[in-house]
Amino acid sequence: MRKKIVAGNWKMNLLPVEAVNLYEQMESSQVPIGCELIVFPPAIYVATLNERQGSIFIGVQNFHPEESGAFTGEISVSQVRACGAKYVLVGHSERRMIFGESNGFVKEKIDSALSHQLVPIVCCGESLAVREDNEHIDFVTNQLAETIGHLTALELSHCMIAYEPIWAIGTGRTASIAQAQEMHAAIRQWLKNHFGELAGEDISILYGGSCNAANASELFACPDVDGGLIGGASLDAASFLKIARSF
Ligand code: PGA
Repeated sequence: MRKKIVAGNWKMNLLPVEAVNLYEQMESSQVPIGCELIVFPPAIYVATLNERQGSIFIGVQNFHPEESGAFTGEISVSQVRACGAKYVLVGHSERRMIFGESNGFVKEKIDSALSHQLVPIVCCGESLAVREDNEHIDFVTNQLAETIGHLTALELSHCMIAYEPIWAIGTGRTASIAQAQEMHAAIRQWLKNHFGELAGEDISILYGGSCNAANASELFACPDVDGGLIGGASLDAASFLKIARSF
């Protein structure tokens, strides 16, 4: 079932006390919210936040697809699951660009997450150069083909997509409403073509890239935008909750 989601990607920010405070401030909101909330803290805080877990789900920003082994510094899919995470981010452009994660590795992570009952939020998005060459739709649908193209419709129903144009991430430059809707509709059409009408209709497609309390309502009003993956603006409880009330 297509859900409305607002997810906060805390990236490599916050000390332990700050992370707990932020989570508790978000949890203490008395105003009803008509969407599901998820936060992605640094992985070392997942177990602590999970002990406090109320209505806000917890996910991890990164993990290794193997269950265990000689991968110094990595956190395994089974460890992530055992520490209480429900969601995982995969294919974020920072992981692709800074840490060299390929579509092939993203695909392995998605398979691993699904076989451990974790919900992958599969990120995709083009660079400015690709958009200026008017290749953005082909580029993004190719990313999807190479990362989720092999799944069954049932497996797809356990995933979400996040469209995050790289030129909008952390830059203060948001995609226009027309740009966001164009790409979200193209992604949904691609999903319908590959997995069937129902599967494409049911999946949640989030927008990410300088989404904030001022622009969220316009973006969420687009028929194919089902919520947001929020970086900078998720580090403040008031602005994150305001975004969550923007549907
Ligand atoms: P931003 O980050 O909201 O700070 O642009 C979004 C993301 O990288 O998920």
